[in-house]
Amino acid sequence: LTPQDLAGLMVLVTAGPTREPLDPVRYLTNRSSGKMGYALARAAAQRGARVVLVSGPTGLTPPPEVQLVPVETAQEMYEQVLQYGSGAAVVIKAAAVADYRPLQLSDQKIKKKDTQLTVQLTQNPDILAELGRRKAQGQILVGFAAETCNLQKNALDKLHRKNLDLLVANDVTLPGAGFDGDTNQVRIFGSQGQEESLPLMNKHKVAHGILDRVSRLYHSRVGG
Ligand code: C5P
Repeated sequence: LTPQDLAGLMVLVTAGPTREPLDPVRYLTNRSSGKMGYALARAAAQRGARVVLVSGPTGLTPPPEVQLVPVETAQEMYEQVLQYGSGAAVVIKAAAVADYRPLQLSDQKIKKKDTQLTVQLTQNPDILAELGRRKAQGQILVGFAAETCNLQKNALDKLHRKNLDLLVANDVTLPGAGFDGDTNQVRIFGSQGQEESLPLMNKHKVAHGILDRVSRLYHSRVGG
């Protein structure tokens, strides 16, 4: 039987890629499937949480008992996450947010020419960093990091820079870890420097492993 250790808590999960439009028919995106975020949303709902899932375009079926808030761009995700985030006890940011968007959005389809085409990009807001700045007393903020090198150093830097409580890092060069795929292998870092490695498992089990850590942290703070 699944423990009801998140009963009554609001958990906000973000998932999937974002889409950054260039013109009416083209956009920039990334390889995120959304599977890890959807697995987290499903697992949190199973453990009794009220779950809001702010998701970029994925093609996945939303889990039962989860409130889906569909978005496309990083800017839209930013607005929805800030709206729902203030009331959430736990925010888990599994989305692969595009760091950049085209500076100009053409209202007509961009025509082919015989010359090179240069697209200028501008920075998107860092949603998680903004949540870290606004973090309410007791709120638990969980970030993800996909790394290809210096995993531990990059993970701890990110955790402190963004004022997070937990950071879930995966080495996307390992077989069976990261984007696409149904499995993942992660290391979880805490803000006091604690570290825990989970074995390679399906994303549903990884999700429960992450929520075990979230739950322990929450209950240690409220003394329950
Ligand atoms: O700094 P980096 O993008 O690697 O950090 C990844 C974490 O930050 C993820 O949890 C991701 O969802 C979040 N993020 C965000 N807004 C951005 C970029 C990343 O919330 N613009």
